[in-house]
Amino acid sequence: MIKVEDEVLQKQINLLYEYKQEHVLKWWDQLSIEEGKEFSDQICSINIPLVGELAKKHVIDYEQIIKKKELAPPEVISIPKEEKDIEKEGEAKKFGEIALKNGEVGCFLVAGGQSTRLGLNSPKGTYPIGPITKRSLYQIHVEKIKALSEKYDIRIPLYIMTSKYTHEGTIKYFETNQFFGLPSQDIRFIQQGMVPAVDRQGNMILDKKNHIFENPNGHGGTILAIRDSNALNDMKQRGIKYLFYFQVDNALLKIADPVFIGYHFLNKSQMSAKVVAKKHPEEKIGLVGYVNGKLGVIEYSELTKEEVYAKNEDGSLKFNAGSPAIHILSVSFIENIIFKGTKLKYHKAFKKIPYISEEGEIITPSEPNGYKFETFIFDLFEEAENVVLMEVNRLEEFSPLKNREGSDSPQEVKKNLTKLYASWIKKANIEVPVDKDGEILGYIETSPLFALDQEDFIQKAEGMSFQRIWR
Ligand code: UTP
Repeated sequence: MIKVEDEVLQKQINLLYEYKQEHVLKWWDQLSIEEGKEFSDQICSINIPLVGELAKKHVIDYEQIIKKKELAPPEVISIPKEEKDIEKEGEAKKFGEIALKNGEVGCFLVAGGQSTRLGLNSPKGTYPIGPITKRSLYQIHVEKIKALSEKYDIRIPLYIMTSKYTHEGTIKYFETNQFFGLPSQDIRFIQQGMVPAVDRQGNMILDKKNHIFENPNGHGGTILAIRDSNALNDMKQRGIKYLFYFQVDNALLKIADPVFIGYHFLNKSQMSAKVVAKKHPEEKIGLVGYVNGKLGVIEYSELTKEEVYAKNEDGSLKFNAGSPAIHILSVSFIENIIFKGTKLKYHKAFKKIPYISEEGEIITPSEPNGYKFETFIFDLFEEAENVVLMEVNRLEEFSPLKNREGSDSPQEVKKNLTKLYASWIKKANIEVPVDKDGEILGYIETSPLFALDQEDFIQKAEGMSFQRIWR
């Protein structure tokens, strides 16, 4: 057993032996003082019993038991079509606007992901997605918050959850861009925790002689990140009651949508979610629904073919509440979850994880070779009372940037932004140039600082000349 003077480190080393993870110390004697210090710091930061527990439960003792699942669709507030529903929406909006004007709404942006599918070296939020201006995702989000602050004459704090992968790059990017015009005191960066991955035998993986591979602990890490930073106090001191939670890669969001906030408030909900209809029955999107009586998000891969195509009497899809991961969480609910010490469960995913060979050379595998563990924010549905699910039009609110090509690629997101802005322009009675098949010619972009939504756009565009808008 390796012996060191530092007591804390020695305890961690003892735990590595106890949980049969001592193989990570293989190169210990060969490390320089500097390398040894870096490695010791990492070892001290790892929750070794948690890794042991996850490896045992999900890998070593894992037995795939196919449990029979009873699925049921949830109740959803549909997109209003009839007069009475439009009225209800208007009522909800009033309450949401009151909360906004009272400064009770904060925003929580999760941006700690590794963007592996997109394959970026910088945080995804810095991706230049603006079809014409190349505005980044971060800029689009912050400008919407700025426009809302101006509209309601109130400060709206933005909490950005980063990870080891995105923290420094994000802060530097915001500083270089003067926080895109929001007061810097209103933007807080809070770093989420990391969790080691394991190989097929349940062993932690070295990706350097003095480094264990870890990944961010999932978007469910939000709760721990709020707990471990001073963010909760900050929210309470500012009088924030509702947190609008969103993901960095969705370019089409209605940030802090007053209708959504209003429904959350009117239903005394602790956690709410927007949902979108699937593009087609086999779309790979998580679905909100009941699993054995508990509300949650069901992975698309967990549905049987019959469930995927199951229909209601009116012919519509039975399981059709796709989750775009847009939520409102009451701050009192978050506080209670932290107080109770509720632990979100970890989900495992089989992924390609870089490792070092017996000779110490770095290898990037071409096939998945290990398990990453992550927690998911929507597992909190189980804990929440009066969950509100509100259906929205995905062309107006959901277009995530995930892949390099094909679906959810930069090209598709730019097209979707163009379609949205084109629909506003048309509503303002301005002609949008299209080709002979009706496809919009080129790209269109509107600054969130000019108009936040269609209503806003129509008002502002009135009296403007065609050329000015097409500048
Ligand atoms: P995804 O799971 O799609 O991950 O995250 P990703 O990093 O964007 O992309 P891949 O899977 O590596 O290709 C959805 C949202 O949750 C955030 C991401 O930043 C994104 O906004 N997220 C994900 C976190 O903040 N932390 C995590 O640990 C995981």
